[in-house]
Amino acid sequence: MIKFKNVSKKFAGSEYGGLNNVNFEIKNGEFVSIIGHSGAGKSTILKMLIGEMRPGDGSEIWIEDIRVEKIKAEFLPYLRRRIGYIFQDYKLLNNRTVFENVSLAMEVAGATRKEIQRDVPRLLELVGIADKSKNFPNELSGGEKQRVSIARALSHNPILLLADEPTSNLDKANSFDIISLLLKINNSGTTVILATHDREIVDKLKKRVITIHKGSVAMDQEFGVYYLPDY
Ligand SMILES: Nc1ncnc2c1ncn2[C@@H]1O[C@H](COP(=O)(O)OP(=O)(O)O)[C@@H](O)[C@H]1O
Ligand SMILES: [Mg+2]
Repeated sequence: MIKFKNVSKKFAGSEYGGLNNVNFEIKNGEFVSIIGHSGAGKSTILKMLIGEMRPGDGSEIWIEDIRVEKIKAEFLPYLRRRIGYIFQDYKLLNNRTVFENVSLAMEVAGATRKEIQRDVPRLLELVGIADKSKNFPNELSGGEKQRVSIARALSHNPILLLADEPTSNLDKANSFDIISLLLKINNSGTTVILATHDREIVDKLKKRVITIHKGSVAMDQEFGVYYLPDY
């Protein structure tokens, strides 16, 4: 479903910054963790999948039969509607309620009022935060905020969910809750790519692990554990 073929990216003024000939394939329905030191290139990989960052010449990035790196900027929103993205810092609208944070994303994507009234409660239920529907983000814990951001990411029915260090601001209990939620979403068929620093989570998951080191794939293990090469 996803293929990185000879993907490179050189950032000016960065010693090894960016990516250096990255190759991997991810099948539909897989749950893959991408690990690596800070600055290894994890976020760069995720950003390239939504066309937010463009790779260097000769790189190929495939999602199904689409060449992502060739999509013109004006067509990127269509791609992004098929992909859910969650961030370490949630990126919620603080002056909007939980319900509105999800409904506005749907509205922007062209959902009807009827679809919104049907789907938002269902999504909030799914992520376990239906009782906070009328609350504002500053009234929520970190774990609850991340649940809202997951509900928002799922509101477009994505085929792919990208999670960039979604647990780095959470305590252990909340981190595991969020990962359980990602697993539940994955079990219902959505492909999940998780960029993470969290050794305990990766070791518990026993799922595929792609290790990025200085912009290259250092390891790609089917039932991986958290192990990083030295600098
Ligand atoms: N827009 C950019 N301009 C210049 N350098 C960048 C840019 N984005 C990322 N980098 C560099 O590329 C490397 C990889 O960054 P990133 O993918 O964010 O790493 P990670 O997510 O693994 O911590 C880092 O050295 C970073 O400084
Ligand atoms: Mg990052």
